[in-house]
Amino acid sequence: MILPIRKFPDPVLQRPGEPVMDFDDALQSFVSDMFETMYAAQGIGLAAPQVGVSRRVTVIDLSGGKDPEQKMVLVNPEIIERAGKLYEEEGCLSFPEIREKVVRAARVTVRAQDEHGKWFEAEGEELLSRCMQHEIDHLDGVLFIFRISGLKRDLALRKIRKMQRAGEW
Ligand code: NI
Repeated sequence: MILPIRKFPDPVLQRPGEPVMDFDDALQSFVSDMFETMYAAQGIGLAAPQVGVSRRVTVIDLSGGKDPEQKMVLVNPEIIERAGKLYEEEGCLSFPEIREKVVRAARVTVRAQDEHGKWFEAEGEELLSRCMQHEIDHLDGVLFIFRISGLKRDLALRKIRKMQRAGEW
């Protein structure tokens, strides 16, 4: 089932997600809905708060559904190591048409549970590293426009307000 994606400034996007305790059927079906929603929106990452669920769950697939090996479910994830620096443009499904350069670690190691509750570690470089950091930020209620300069953020917020007024947001 495709879920509606919440856009900024929906307050759920800035609320830290609750840890997941139950790895039950409801979670499995939620994770599968998240993948379906992400693919339909042509995204490479989606976090539960973006569909209005304040839980620490995120899905990532850099292949956009073409390569099952790249599907990644991160439940209760934590970044345990970061190295290097990247400064690249990012977008977010909750901010259509807004793209901004964000400073991120070039490599991260993440510790997380899968949808069955099994703990694992995963490493990400370049795009995967950025995506992991962006999605884990969502679980802390942190949005990418709060990781750019105040000046650039004001410009982006002005653009959003303009689109809202025009009924395009
Ligand atoms: Ni996002």
